[in-house]
Amino acid sequence: MGKIVAGAAVAAIGLPALNSCAGKPQKKRIVLYFTATGNSLYVARQLAESEEQLLSIPQMVKQNRYEFEADEIGIVYPIYGHMPPNMVRNFIRKARLKAEYKFAVLTYGARKCDAVEIWNDLSARAGNAFDYIATLVMVDNWLPNFDMNEQVKMDKHIPENLQRIAGEISSRRQWQEPVSEEERQMHAGFMALSGLDPEVGFLKRSERYFAVTDACIDCGVCTDVCPRGNYELTSNGVAMQGDCDFCFACIQNCPQKAIRFRQDSGDPLLAQGEKNPDARYRNEHVSLMDIKRANGQ
Ligand SMILES: Cc1cc2nc3c(=O)[nH]c(=O)nc-3n(C[C@H](O)[C@H](O)[C@H](O)COP(=O)(O)O)c2cc1C
Ligand code: SF4
Ligand code: SF4
Repeated sequence: MGKIVAGAAVAAIGLPALNSCAGKPQKKRIVLYFTATGNSLYVARQLAESEEQLLSIPQMVKQNRYEFEADEIGIVYPIYGHMPPNMVRNFIRKARLKAEYKFAVLTYGARKCDAVEIWNDLSARAGNAFDYIATLVMVDNWLPNFDMNEQVKMDKHIPENLQRIAGEISSRRQWQEPVSEEERQMHAGFMALSGLDPEVGFLKRSERYFAVTDACIDCGVCTDVCPRGNYELTSNGVAMQGDCDFCFACIQNCPQKAIRFRQDSGDPLLAQGEKNPDARYRNEHVSLMDIKRANGQ
């Protein structure tokens, strides 16, 4: 297993500075992240000192790297059904994070429920307890319920909330965002409806849920943005199969909007199809190349 010690280079990021006064040693921070449409990468970037200290979880998994050491280690991921993506869940179970201070920021779009408690429980059980866990509301990329064109118009106060979170992390606040009993109940209701296994979260089969239409131009983007490498270009066009985090990197980043959900009346979350098949989303601060670098297998 590889061991990563963060470098000390510092980049200006416009948020509270991490480096200390002259003469004092700088704090070394690394930020692990998982992203499909860039929200979590954007947040991770704002919390990292430099690009070198940003570590994509799919890349770490690909390289079989699970040991990390720094003064401060952060993790940023999108919640899926209030739970971490399957890959993040498996990563934290195997990881050994050695740091004085560990923080987690969970991005979401509409309803966080008890996501903070779920992460606290999961990470503590894995021997990686976190000192600080917060959520940040951003654009909701859950296509079945939300129109991306409407989502991007909503003001979710991201800069203010992100600045507050960055400040709290800089001062090493020990804190876990509170969860109400009502939120716990809402999550229980969601789990009953979805039939998801709480120990697995979203783990589907890509070939069951996605289809490629004639609009495909064989550009290969889908082959580069899937963190599981499920897509390939063949002589018969694009083929895809495999265990799927349901992250939507493929469907959201296809420039032709040629990837569609298959009609699936057997899955209660997808029985209605999707809200707007012509609307797709990627965070405005994140490029397609960034997603490819983060997820390419
Ligand atoms: C499979 C899936 C499940 C999701 N579940 C939730 C959820 O339970 N609550 C919520 O508020 N947002 C949910 N979202 C929205 C994402 O958490 C949110 O848009 C996140 O910021 C996307 O991050 P990314 O751009 O880094 O991929 C879900 C998205 C997906 C794809
Ligand atoms: S990203 Fe879309 S257009 Fe490009 S190869 Fe994949 S399905 Fe086809
Ligand atoms: S097939 Fe699509 S939704 Fe599934 S893991 Fe790959 S990019 Fe994500």
